Amino acid sequence: MNVQEIKQRFGIIGNSPLLNRAIDIANQVSPTDISVLITGESGSGKEAFSHIIHQLSPRKHGPFIAVNCGAIPEGTIDSELFGHEKGAYTGAVGERKGYFETVNGGTIFLDEIGEMPLGTQARLLRVLESGQFIRVGSSKVEKTNVRVIAATNVDVYEAVKAGKFREDLYYRLNTVPLRIPPLRDRKEDVYLLFRKFSADFTDKYRTPALHLDEGAQQVLMNYSWPGNVRQLKNLAEQLAVLERDRTITAATLLTYMPQEAGRSNLPMRLDNQQREDFSERDILYKVLFDMKRDMVELKKLVAEIIEHAGTGDNYTPNTQTLNQLYHDIELPAKQEAQFTIQQPVVNTHSNSDALITPHAEEVEESLSLVEKESDLIRKALKKHKGKRKLAAHELGISERTLYRKIKELNL
Ligand SMILES: Nc1ncnc2c1ncn2[C@@H]1O[C@H](COP(=O)(O)OP(=O)(O)O)[C@@H](O)[C@H]1O
Ligand SMILES: [Mg+2]
Repeated sequence: MNVQEIKQRFGIIGNSPLLNRAIDIANQVSPTDISVLITGESGSGKEAFSHIIHQLSPRKHGPFIAVNCGAIPEGTIDSELFGHEKGAYTGAVGERKGYFETVNGGTIFLDEIGEMPLGTQARLLRVLESGQFIRVGSSKVEKTNVRVIAATNVDVYEAVKAGKFREDLYYRLNTVPLRIPPLRDRKEDVYLLFRKFSADFTDKYRTPALHLDEGAQQVLMNYSWPGNVRQLKNLAEQLAVLERDRTITAATLLTYMPQEAGRSNLPMRLDNQQREDFSERDILYKVLFDMKRDMVELKKLVAEIIEHAGTGDNYTPNTQTLNQLYHDIELPAKQEAQFTIQQPVVNTHSNSDALITPHAEEVEESLSLVEKESDLIRKALKKHKGKRKLAAHELGISERTLYRKIKELNL
């Protein structure tokens, strides 16, 4: 089977060179009985690869079991893996077969191998080298034929250096290292994966198809994906179920993505202070930009009316525009009444700029208004964690206007 066929068969999405390389290695090592150590961050696909290796091996009709070494208490892991005799320890009422016995002829996937206690590591090394093991509380040597695939999301070699992981076992397991790249190292696959998952989930929940706008696609690409493919999959599922507006914007997306401190992975990054309220100055700018917007809309309308005045055709202004205008003007007016501006506005130009003529000042102010506008929108979005509805309310504009602004200002 070639790499493309494997992807097809196992539903593996992506075409980045690092992913293809990993699939190629899995493909080559599958028919052998060699132990494989899969390394990669959580959610990157380690377990999925263990299935592929088993399924492509001559053991595919034999059993497969995944064991999370990090989740089994130190006191019972030997017994779980290798079984015990009756009375081997307090509470061992009957004898019990371990996984290495029940999976005879198949494959064991040992996840979080770095968490395995040293004593268990000794038993594992023995079974890997000779196929022999001894049940807890027994002295009889048993034989088994199990292939081991191990996985870790931490650097096991660090554990070796710290004396927490046996060096001989490390080399034994690591005969063929298989590294699954983190999602952030295969950016070209992110959108492909998203499309696959969102199609799957909208299908599953019978909800309308999702569409990501340009900005949202950028956010997906540039995010650091600490939870890798699993996180992306969960995101697609949540969107498929929760979002009313099926065109997903960057702002919507951001509400679903936790930000890692000190990591600038988003094009639309909001600065670090998380809680910061609107200053009086901000409020004034807000009122100003509302007015500016209304002026622009009015001008457009007047221009339209004038344009049609002489032509004699039966012109009525676009009612939608009128309605929106009415709606938009209404809101800030109501909102405005809540502001109490206690201090007079102070001109903050303390240098020679203060001497500029009123006309020049006006030009300067109106230029920075655009900047202020995007500043405010950012602030409002940040304050409301990207929730457009709340941000729009705070800004005193309609959600639709905010949406348009985000697009216009390329936020
Ligand atoms: N390339 C991929 N294409 C499609 N699904 C993937 C891919 N990689 C991982 N997945 C899916 O992502 C989820 C997490 O993968 P998993 O193998 O459990 O990660 P890990 O074991 O590294 O934590 C699983 O549902 C898996 O099927
Ligand atoms: Mg896992």
